[in-house]
Amino acid sequence: MLNKILLIIWFILRPRNYLHFFSLIKRKFLHNHDTVENSKKAFEWAKVNAIPYADALKKLDINGKLVGLDRDTIMEGQKLEAKSTVKMGGSGHIHLLYDCVRLLKVNNVIETGVAYGWSSLAILKALSQNGFGKLYSVDMPYPRKKNENDVGIVVPKNLRKNWILIRKPDNPGIISALNKAGGEIDLCHYDSDKSWWGRYYAYPILWKSLKSKGLFISDDIQDNLYFSEFVRKNLLNFAVVEFEGKFVGLIRKE
Ligand SMILES: C[S@@+](CC[C@H](N)C(=O)[O-])C[C@H]1O[C@@H](n2cnc3c(N)ncnc32)[C@H](O)[C@@H]1O
Repeated sequence: MLNKILLIIWFILRPRNYLHFFSLIKRKFLHNHDTVENSKKAFEWAKVNAIPYADALKKLDINGKLVGLDRDTIMEGQKLEAKSTVKMGGSGHIHLLYDCVRLLKVNNVIETGVAYGWSSLAILKALSQNGFGKLYSVDMPYPRKKNENDVGIVVPKNLRKNWILIRKPDNPGIISALNKAGGEIDLCHYDSDKSWWGRYYAYPILWKSLKSKGLFISDDIQDNLYFSEFVRKNLLNFAVVEFEGKFVGLIRKE
């Protein structure tokens, strides 16, 4: 009970998070899609559909040499992460992100969910090697964790000039990011609110804003059935890749 009260106070003191807070309250009265049974079904669906990383990129017509994020950049990030005193969420598939950004030569990228910033690091490193492009990242810090100052800590100073970090929840952060990016994006990485209702809010907005041939990447699709429903309903060209016992979903726009 005390924890709930402290959580409510945390939200009340931060007006930029009000829309998300109201949506969390509203979800208590809506159908719960995030059941254990549904997450088992989603895991099975992802497992059956998973293919090797290289095959997944080929299936989505992403061609070229796959090299992954280099060891030195990872080690530099690890040193920076060690300075953080807060435990945050694990990284997305950094090698996949790095290769996709590099091979597709993307210009505008949006990601949701930063935490230590491993996905941001992979994307920014690839953008800097491409020589163009910007990353718009949306992140609401973990409530009551006091991790605000450490969000994105693994991104070194020399990679920050093309990085716009929007410290808001997905609602309204994704819309702010899209406005700043001029309304259209080439690639997005979704790794924030992974509940069914969180995806229900964010996926359609991000998908609609993707340019033709754009790439949508979502982490942890095994959490619930939203990803599988989204690709089935919209008849989309997708691929699933296993990563550290979890699954990443990719969708390429026609
Ligand atoms: C799994 S971590 C992201 C990891 C990161 N992509 C990486 O590869 O290192 C999830 C992040 O999303 C943030 N988050 C959770 N719910 C959110 C929401 N509704 N809006 C924005 N950020 C959210 C969390 O606070 C956390 O920083």
